[in-house]
Amino acid sequence: MDTKEKRSSAELHMPVPFLDLRRQYHSIKDEIDRALEQVLDSGRYILDGEGVAFERDFADYCGATDAVGVGSGTEALHLALRACGVEPGDVVVTAPNTAVPTVCAIVAANATPAFVDIDPRTFTIAPDKLDVYLDSQPAGRRTKAVIAVHLYGHPADVRPILRVARAHGIKVIEDAAQAHGAEYAGCKIGSLGDAGCFSFYPTKNLGAYGDAGMVITNDGDVARRLRMLRNYGEEAKYQNRVEGFNSRLDEIHAAMLRVKLAHLDEWITRRRQLAALYDELLADAPVDRPTERVPARHSYHLYVIRTARRDAMLRHLTNEQVGASVHYPLPVHLQPAYRRLGYRAGDFPEAERACREVLSLPLYPELTELEVRRVASAIRSCP
Ligand SMILES: Cc1ncc(COP(=O)(O)O)c(C=O)c1O
Repeated sequence: MDTKEKRSSAELHMPVPFLDLRRQYHSIKDEIDRALEQVLDSGRYILDGEGVAFERDFADYCGATDAVGVGSGTEALHLALRACGVEPGDVVVTAPNTAVPTVCAIVAANATPAFVDIDPRTFTIAPDKLDVYLDSQPAGRRTKAVIAVHLYGHPADVRPILRVARAHGIKVIEDAAQAHGAEYAGCKIGSLGDAGCFSFYPTKNLGAYGDAGMVITNDGDVARRLRMLRNYGEEAKYQNRVEGFNSRLDEIHAAMLRVKLAHLDEWITRRRQLAALYDELLADAPVDRPTERVPARHSYHLYVIRTARRDAMLRHLTNEQVGASVHYPLPVHLQPAYRRLGYRAGDFPEAERACREVLSLPLYPELTELEVRRVASAIRSCP
């Protein structure tokens, strides 16, 4: 074997990690290290200039009037529900195939979770089914809000969701934890409903080096309530207007996220290029590829294929040392923790089938084209 042959044989068998966050850190190390040092040197670590500047930058990026930094995506959802008027005993409806924190947040707001099935093409809540659910509610059931989850980076169908929600007098909270930078009808998601909630968990399209989150809104009253709720309920120092929490975005994370926000569009462009390459390489593979439904613009937090032979394919990829993952193997209504809600297998057939069939492939801006080719060829060689 000559050197070139040896190299291409090694490339054919190289392991591909599902995600490697060190690559991104090293690509912007100087900027991040400088931002970190400046905050450490400033002696000001909570609710100060960096947080205010990042809130301004993020609101501008999303086209919203306000942004309020909080401790995590889960807390963003919890506090947004409360700021939008959800009270103990209210019902909040969402999609059953979401990440479980969407539902943790509903419970944290002392509300009761309910579910509506999904559109199988986008994996997001089906507006017509939401309409049927709201129309057929038993008397006395107080559904106050819907959380539309932009799962995997594909926007939920916000326009009809808003129409249905407005017709029934309920609030729309966008769970944009997986969808920074995604767009719907030319607008950045998160800015379309009553509040948009983001997670900066390290793996997200815009990820911190720890936990952090943000709520954006165009409603000044909601923003004002959020600022109180995240800081012990204080309206001014030692004046507690509401029963609040401690859920603040600290200065270190704000400074580093500000650095990263400036790169977000270029990273999303790269994700979309790699997704297009997967599309091309998997065109004749026996799997369903992700779609992008007009007027949505996908931000490809995850590249999720579908196959009825998902578990066998996952085993094959693992044997081939190709990272892959399942988001998520069991819908929330069938998780043991939520048995008390009384749902059963078969209640949401599309979400349940999606959970049996979805498979996420490696996709991050620092992934190389060679690695994408390696993943695609491992998929095509699946017996
Ligand atoms: C759809 C969705 N909602 C909410 C969250 C919660 O975000 P965090 O982990 O920052 O609390 C996540 C994070 O995994 C998520 O994927």
